[in-house]
Amino acid sequence: MKVAVILTLTLTIVSAKVPSIKLNTGYEMPQIGLGTWQATGDPVKQAVKDALKIGYRHIDTAWIYKNEKEVGEAIHEQIGAGILKREDLFITTKVWPKDAKTAKKSLETVHHSLQQLNVTYLDLVLVHRPADNYTEVYKGLEEAVGQKLVRSIGISNFNKAQIDSLKKTWKMKPAVNQIEIHPTLNQDDTVNHCNDLGIAVTGYSPLGTGKLIKDPTLAAIGKKHNKSAAQVALRWQIERHLITIPKSVTKKYIQEDFEIFDFTLTKDEVKTIHDMHA
Ligand SMILES: NC(=O)c1ccc[n+]([C@@H]2O[C@H](COP(=O)([O-])OP(=O)(O)OC[C@H]3O[C@@H](n4cnc5c(N)ncnc54)[C@H](OP(=O)(O)O)[C@@H]3O)[C@@H](O)[C@H]2O)c1
Ligand SMILES: *[C@@H]1O[C@H](CO)[C@@H](O)[C@H](O)[C@H]1NC(C)=O
Ligand SMILES: *[C@@H]1O[C@H](CO)[C@@H](O)[C@H](O)[C@H]1NC(C)=O
Ligand SMILES: *[C@@H]1O[C@H](CO)[C@@H](O)[C@H](O)[C@H]1NC(C)=O
Repeated sequence: MKVAVILTLTLTIVSAKVPSIKLNTGYEMPQIGLGTWQATGDPVKQAVKDALKIGYRHIDTAWIYKNEKEVGEAIHEQIGAGILKREDLFITTKVWPKDAKTAKKSLETVHHSLQQLNVTYLDLVLVHRPADNYTEVYKGLEEAVGQKLVRSIGISNFNKAQIDSLKKTWKMKPAVNQIEIHPTLNQDDTVNHCNDLGIAVTGYSPLGTGKLIKDPTLAAIGKKHNKSAAQVALRWQIERHLITIPKSVTKKYIQEDFEIFDFTLTKDEVKTIHDMHA
């Protein structure tokens, strides 16, 4: 089992700085992406433009965030400016089961996201929550892969039992499970289960939606490395071979959150952070 995990979650270097995780579909997913929840309009557009300029090559959005249009505009402006090409970028979006309800509507939502983001394919689409006919919604995503609209599909907010339940009907294994992970919620059980199944894990709210940025334990560790508490929280996810998606609309923070590939935490520091679990 350990060997399978190492084989499926092989770390590879795509650029000088940012490592990526190889998904069970064969595609590479950059280990850091920009989160965009609770960001809309001009601020999210500017944040995505700044992030792409800084070097981010992975953006996390969702149908329910109501910002796919602005995210798409930012991407196309930076492609137009020669900053990147579409194929250099990994775009994740999500379908909200309460609204999608059926496989057919789920597929229609994928078309809507493609149109809003103004792209011909999506890198990853997730079932946003394990609720409201989510097995049907997942079927719609499997069809989207068949139609080459989406490269990889996955799930979000699924625990061990919910993954095992979906397993009874999935034809394609999810490539990713996106769940809440930060030092005060280490999610060992779900992460281990996903590792065993060869499902990569993205940790969302890596800064506890901002609550951890002044945490004294993280700040003290950061001081030793000339890094902030936020950078320590993010680095901890990188060292667990997770994908991390900090959100910010502040250029200074977007830059700071990206500067986590020039230091490593010691084994003891990783354990101290792990033990902050509430
Ligand atoms: N699948 C799901 O159900 C789900 C649920 C929640 C989140 N997510 C995803 O995960 C992403 C991240 O989670 P999140 O939005 O909850 O929050 P987060 O990334 O844990 O924290 C974001 C907050 O921290 C601030 N911040 C960011 N970097 C900072 C820094 N270096 N120093 C100081 N403050 C900093 C941001 O400020 P400013 O923005 O004001 O600059 C913002 O208030 C979301 O945006 C979304 O893409 C997914
Ligand atoms: C949509 O993408 C095309 C290139 O694929 C680009 O020419 C066009 O400007 C984009 N539209 C918007 C609204 O960004
Ligand atoms: C769940 O999906 C089935 C099959 O597509 C559909 O017949 C049913 O109406 C859906 N349930 C809800 C609550 O929408
Ligand atoms: C500490 O980090 C800051 C901000 O990244 C940087 O400007 C400074 O040169 C660093 N100091 C040392 C001693 O590395």
